[in-house]
Amino acid sequence: MLELHNVRVYHGPIEAVHGLSVSVSEGQCVVLLGPNGAGKTSTLSAIAGVASSRGQITFNGHDLEGLSIEERQRLGIALAPEGRRIFSNLSVRENLLIGAATRTDRPGVASDIDYWFSTFPVLHERSDQAAGTLSGGEQQMLTIARALMSKPRILLLDEPSLGLAPLICKQIFALIDSLKAQGMTILLVEQNVRDALQLADYGYMLNSGNLMSEGDRETLSRQGASMSTLTGINHT
Ligand SMILES: Nc1ncnc2c1ncn2[C@@H]1O[C@H](COP(=O)(O)OP(=O)(O)OP(=O)(O)O)[C@@H](O)[C@H]1O
Ligand SMILES: [Mg+2]
Repeated sequence: MLELHNVRVYHGPIEAVHGLSVSVSEGQCVVLLGPNGAGKTSTLSAIAGVASSRGQITFNGHDLEGLSIEERQRLGIALAPEGRRIFSNLSVRENLLIGAATRTDRPGVASDIDYWFSTFPVLHERSDQAAGTLSGGEQQMLTIARALMSKPRILLLDEPSLGLAPLICKQIFALIDSLKAQGMTILLVEQNVRDALQLADYGYMLNSGNLMSEGDRETLSRQGASMSTLTGINHT
């Protein structure tokens, strides 16, 4: 479904990812692991069209080269960015509507808002409240719900558990698990290796813009101890 072939990602003159190949099949949850600065966000940004890249990225047979962020969204790519980047001064409902900006089916958008409000009752209760007043966990739920409002075929999730209390992390991982059970294809970035590997069908371990290893859950779990010594990241 999504194929990255020898992808290099650039921030101005800086090459953040040095030739990465990644494959995500329909219905899979694939995880990108690695310490700070490994190039995880850069990789998602290149797929979403936010960062410039070289190499080949194809999605459902479409070469994404030269396509804008919106064109990629229309093809079914949605990014839930790291750091809960919601529009703080807009209401919860307005944030969700922004997620649906590329859609033309108004009745569908309205019923999807109802659907996400029933999935996240706490967002429903706060639908007219400024999104900036939500708690960290609520903002993360809004970030994910907003990405899902575009009705994506693949969801790119950047560190959804970062900075959240353990109980809220659990809720977020349960949500990802239920999205997966509904057949959503997910490319997940996480530093929380243990929880991420419980969800993931396959994973890639990056460090300093290079691929260190890849494999299925069992292989990466087995390598967990050596990975943490190598990179200093916590895998417990
Ligand atoms: N906008 C930018 N301008 C310049 N350099 C950048 C920019 N964004 C990222 N970089 C650099 O690219 C490299 C990879 O960063 P990236 O954000 O992809 O890492 P990451 O794996 O997501 O890390 P983290 O876990 O801290 O989020 C880093 O060296 C970083 O300093
Ligand atoms: Mg990042």
